[in-house]
Amino acid sequence: MSNTSRPLVLGLETSCDETSAAVLDGGNTILGHVILSQDGHEVFGGVVPELAARAHLQKVDLVVEETLRQAEVSLREIDVFGVTAGPGLIGALLVGLSWSKAASFACDRPLVAVHHMEGHLFSPSLENSAAQPPFVALLVSGGHTLLVHAVKWGEYRLLGETRDDAAGEAFDKVAKLLGLGYPGGPLIERLASEGKASRYKLPRPMLRGNQKPDDAEFYDFSFSGLKTAVVELVRRLELDGVLSSEIANVAAGFQEAAVDVLASKTMRAVGQTKCARVLVGGGVSANRRLCDELASRLGTEGELFHASTRLSLDNAAMIARAARFRYDRGDVAEPDISASATMALPGLEQSVA
Ligand code: KG4
Ligand code: ZN
Repeated sequence: MSNTSRPLVLGLETSCDETSAAVLDGGNTILGHVILSQDGHEVFGGVVPELAARAHLQKVDLVVEETLRQAEVSLREIDVFGVTAGPGLIGALLVGLSWSKAASFACDRPLVAVHHMEGHLFSPSLENSAAQPPFVALLVSGGHTLLVHAVKWGEYRLLGETRDDAAGEAFDKVAKLLGLGYPGGPLIERLASEGKASRYKLPRPMLRGNQKPDDAEFYDFSFSGLKTAVVELVRRLELDGVLSSEIANVAAGFQEAAVDVLASKTMRAVGQTKCARVLVGGGVSANRRLCDELASRLGTEGELFHASTRLSLDNAAMIARAARFRYDRGDVAEPDISASATMALPGLEQSVA
């Protein structure tokens, strides 16, 4: 490995139900990358924290071993250990953090704690070197919905966030309601492609034409009202005995409402910041309809960055990339660092604009 550019970063991600490890070289090339998705959670209609933690514990050694084998490096050759320290499921996070702490201690190499959502921010840059700030970022995952103005790496101005459910959570809850399974996002998207979105016009919560930039609701999101509207629609269709023939139309109507709200608020941010470069990240950015809508609203004047499906969903390559950024800034973790289920995004400030 003498010709490989340094530092070699080993990233580890165990915040939810993917056990993932990646080795990134100094030029941001992914040398090895394994993403192991846990199964069994779908029976319960969502991730069961205790099962997730146990599965990480069982798989983490194997996942790292295979990643190092792909990268053709040994653990001793790793220069930096980067790991998701939060936010996420605490038991699951602790597995990855404890593993990385032990490895960093044993190899006498620095440990870098990464915020999961900062990882998602870095994901598109692994495939497209132009995906650099400044940009407006829409971060949409199973646990978060954030609209930020990334002025530069590490300097993020919060524009809006969800007041209740995250966007991915809304997809998961609606999928459960429609009896589709877990995770709901890809299942809703597939079903929606067979339906007619205009058949049922669902509400666009917190989106009204008369909102002004200094109203808190201008950028904020709310998805629980949309979910309730789907509950009521499903109940009515069930009573009429037509739910099974209408289910694709319901999925399409829901997806359209969610996409409309996400895209509209993002375009408000583009208008206010005068920054027509948009990055969409997090699991929901795997949704083609969302990316197509953002691209079409941005038009030829704007630029949209999003990762491939593999790197949009939880993965360790993005964690290694964010760890590299933090390492370069000297943000090395102390050995007594703990995981945090609700960690704040470093560099995130309330917007004054
Ligand atoms: O970022 P992620 O992999 O994990 C978290 O950090 O939460 O995001 C997972 C979320 C789930 O809620 C899942 O349903 C959603 O992303 N998702 C999608 C799609 N693929 C995954 N939502 C809509 N459309 C998709 N194609
Ligand atoms: Zn995620």
